Amino acid sequence: MRQLFHRLPYLGLAALLLASGTNAQDTQYAFMPPGGRTLLLELTANSEGEGLTGIAGRKMTRDEWRDWAASKDAGLSETALATLAGYAELNLPVGSENLAKLVESGDGSLLPPDGKDLAIAQCQFCHSLFSGYLMHERDEVGWKSTFKSPFHLEIPMSEVERDTFARYSALNMPLRYEDVPPELRF
Ligand code: HEC
Repeated sequence: MRQLFHRLPYLGLAALLLASGTNAQDTQYAFMPPGGRTLLLELTANSEGEGLTGIAGRKMTRDEWRDWAASKDAGLSETALATLAGYAELNLPVGSENLAKLVESGDGSLLPPDGKDLAIAQCQFCHSLFSGYLMHERDEVGWKSTFKSPFHLEIPMSEVERDTFARYSALNMPLRYEDVPPELRF
């Protein structure tokens, strides 16, 4: 556990990672399964008729999102379908202000962060992603309880972000040791 003054540079790094969104994920973290935001963007990019903005303004349950995603026949695994559905139910529709910006720019990074985005941005200030995250097997309740530890209380994530994170993590963690790049196994 590092002292606070050692953590400060990491806060800057995390802000950068959050700001650069997909770019950081595309490269350094490509070994982690995609989160709901990325899956949704891929699906809308490849599906005809429904633009991202129409989809971002829609409200559906987890089951409805799963069936909608499956109907696109994009070859997503059950885990990916569930990941997308878990994210979309919690984070869509996006607020009218962001929706307006989305319509204008088509920039998918305006969608709320998904579980992968959040893990990368929030879980490596004080310990490594590998030791504190990638190797842990928990269900949704178990991941949610991470935030109750005294040393995790200050993590700046909203309730929706915590739930989004817990859903992604329950479905997609742990990774296998050999799937993590050697330089991150610490
Ligand atoms: C503010 C610093 C800090 C941040 C940010 C942080 N942790 Fe931790 N975490 C700790 C400390 C301190 C411990 C206990 C000592 C240790 O293992 O280093 C710990 C331990 C853990 C453990 C093992 C103990 C337990 O609670 O089961 C897990 C799992 C964990 N962290 C997950 C996470 C996840 C997931 C995130 C991101 C959502 C995160 N941590 C972000 C400080 C932090």
